[in-house]
Amino acid sequence: MRQPQDVGAGREGQRHTSRPYAILGSGQSMAQTPPVVLLQEVHKSFPLDQGRDLQVLDIPQLAVREGSYTVVQGPSGSGKTTLLNLIAGITIPTSGHIWVSGTDMTALSEPQRDRFRAAHIGYIFQTFNLLAPFTAVENVMLAMLFAQAIPKRAQRQRAVALLSRLGLSARLAHRPAQLSRGEQQRVAIARALANDPPVLLADEPCASLDAATAQVVLMALHSLCRESHQTVLIVAHDTAALEGADQVLDIRDINRATGRPDGVDRA
Ligand SMILES: Nc1ncnc2c1ncn2[C@@H]1O[C@H](COP(=O)(O)OP(=O)(O)OP(=O)(O)O)[C@@H](O)[C@H]1O
Ligand SMILES: [Mg+2]
Repeated sequence: MRQPQDVGAGREGQRHTSRPYAILGSGQSMAQTPPVVLLQEVHKSFPLDQGRDLQVLDIPQLAVREGSYTVVQGPSGSGKTTLLNLIAGITIPTSGHIWVSGTDMTALSEPQRDRFRAAHIGYIFQTFNLLAPFTAVENVMLAMLFAQAIPKRAQRQRAVALLSRLGLSARLAHRPAQLSRGEQQRVAIARALANDPPVLLADEPCASLDAATAQVVLMALHSLCRESHQTVLIVAHDTAALEGADQVLDIRDINRATGRPDGVDRA
């Protein structure tokens, strides 16, 4: 099997390093490295009808160490995607604080969160979120264009290299509607890796892939952690994703929310 060790690697010396948290101090050993993602007293509710709210998350604390590989599991509807959206700054919590690489996401405006995400976070969305009018290469290049972390002249070559490494060299000029689900998923993965992000969020990244392709993707994500010291937080159910994980979390163990609208007792 191919070794995807250079997917997402490179740009030595240009990697964003996370700053130690003042509250935790600095100078810790590897085993005590400060969390690159830290949630404290995070609540997330969605408004429903008749003034009621759906409480989805109530997480007293969650810490993800820099360079670690963390797998999040839990049943459908338990709040896994909501958790990743909060860490990515796509949504904001109803209350509480979320730090990513030392930045309090809850203190940023929406445009500031967008810029922060482009520079610090790669996100493989559960729903892919590819841009329909653009080809596979253009979708990956647009992520680089927005972040401005990769020199312009290198962007196309890097997009082609990432897509080829994920087995899509014959699909570079295809638009999303001309790709299978598994191919779209791999374009979404290439796009998330495009800026060599210090934090990678992956929401069921292998859901549409066959076992062999899933293995290639999982090995790529592992090598990001082990060789490039990137932090990977992955929502996954398959046992292959658990191999070598530093931390496996069942969201029900960290989340106290009832998952029910206000005023409705837990069954
Ligand atoms: N924008 C929203 N408005 C109202 N409810 C929402 C919204 N987004 C999510 N929810 C609700 O929050 C709960 C958690 O959703 P979420 O997508 O985080 O679950 P999940 O664990 O990722 O599920 P799955 O495994 O099916 O992807 C669900 O019950 C969902 O209906
Ligand atoms: Mg989900």
